[in-house]
Amino acid sequence: MSQSATFTEPTALGHPDPSRISGGLSGRISGGTSGHRSGAGPGAEINLSMRAAVVGTGAISVEHLTFLSGRSRFVELPDRRVKPVAVCDLSPISARYAAETFDVDAHYTDLEQLLEFERPDVVHILTPPSTHVPLASLCLEAGAHVICEKPVAANIDELHALLDVAERCGRKITESHNYCFNPAIAELTQMLTDGTLGSLREVEIRIALPVTDPDGRFGDANLPHPIHSMPAGVIHDFTTHFASLLLHFTGNIRFPRVTAAWSNHSADPLFRYDNLDALMIGNGADGPVHGRFRFEAGAGPDTFTVRVYGSRGWAETDLFQPNTRVVMPRVGGSQLSPIANHVANGAGLIRNGMANLGRKVMQRTPYEGLHLFLDDTYRALATGDELPVTADDMRAVCSLIDQLLEEKTRL
Ligand SMILES: NC(=O)c1ccc[n+]([C@@H]2O[C@H](COP(=O)([O-])OP(=O)(O)OC[C@H]3O[C@@H](n4cnc5c(N)ncnc54)[C@H](O)[C@@H]3O)[C@@H](O)[C@H]2O)c1
Repeated sequence: MSQSATFTEPTALGHPDPSRISGGLSGRISGGTSGHRSGAGPGAEINLSMRAAVVGTGAISVEHLTFLSGRSRFVELPDRRVKPVAVCDLSPISARYAAETFDVDAHYTDLEQLLEFERPDVVHILTPPSTHVPLASLCLEAGAHVICEKPVAANIDELHALLDVAERCGRKITESHNYCFNPAIAELTQMLTDGTLGSLREVEIRIALPVTDPDGRFGDANLPHPIHSMPAGVIHDFTTHFASLLLHFTGNIRFPRVTAAWSNHSADPLFRYDNLDALMIGNGADGPVHGRFRFEAGAGPDTFTVRVYGSRGWAETDLFQPNTRVVMPRVGGSQLSPIANHVANGAGLIRNGMANLGRKVMQRTPYEGLHLFLDDTYRALATGDELPVTADDMRAVCSLIDQLLEEKTRL
């Protein structure tokens, strides 16, 4: 480990969502371990100074580097807490551009050199999925903790091998389950934990994105995107989001009954699949829980909806345009509840319409959860507490994705 300094943790870290501070995002609904806040309370002496490096300076690096350079709108990083010391990309122009944009002193095209010369405490791996395991192993062997973008591994065997490397090296590795940390998900979580919706019965997650668009980043036939080599093709880029969100609500339960229809409705040979319709039935703490994943490339507009059904009511949000709609028993009993629901949700729609206009003007992305996940991860690394996304969480997510891809579950 490289140099470090100790200072007193400030009492306010500027989290925008009060529910996080009171634990609203924390933990899964049943039996999970993730999402907890660090045990070191305000004022505790903890070592928060770490040297961070980034490998892969493409699209998602903007969010990671914004966080690392202390420019996040979502969290405040006290001085000296974490310093981005170097970036690396196979493309020298891209590495240099990222270093200049975010005031990072050093840029490399070779990760081994970066590790040797910079000795980072933490490396963010933001390269295409097929490179994650070899690059993460290099970093762990060099003594760095790893924060890896999803999917960390292509299957559970690869993941087990990587976790063994981390264990042997005495370093930690975590995977970005960022949407579980979005405030809108915290809101749904809260309504399940405080009983507003009753006990969980079903989670339905739907992503609609025009990934087959020939002008889009996945549709270029001349320079195919690396994601096409993954077992679920382009949909593999989204499977971690589906699985981590479902398990966030259900806890890491098993789903003995799974069926998945993987289709290529566009018939474009570049794509293995462009459509997923999956149904999972598991045994939750309070009875059976259904999970439903839909990925659609051919239906607009861009959508990322999460809907949770409980024994009393249901709630949904769209992570791209946050607006939580809640349908539940209200004052006035069964006769007036439907109308009260319309009125309450109508008022919320107007309020959130204005808020989303503000988000658009401020160019806010749906990546606030990523910043909050990184913030929690650095706190846990600093205090030695359990990471917000644990090895068990990563195993559960990866196993569910494997299960969805098994031949015997295909519809
Ligand atoms: N968590 C999220 O919500 C989210 C969102 C977008 C992307 N991602 C994930 O982030 C990862 C990167 O995605 P992206 O959209 O930024 O991809 P990108 O193609 O924009 O960038 C990847 C970069 O990695 C570089 N690279 C490739 N191999 C390398 C190597 N061996 N050494 C150094 N650099 C190398 C490439 O030159 C490129 O600049 C993927 O795993 C993706 O699934 C996550």
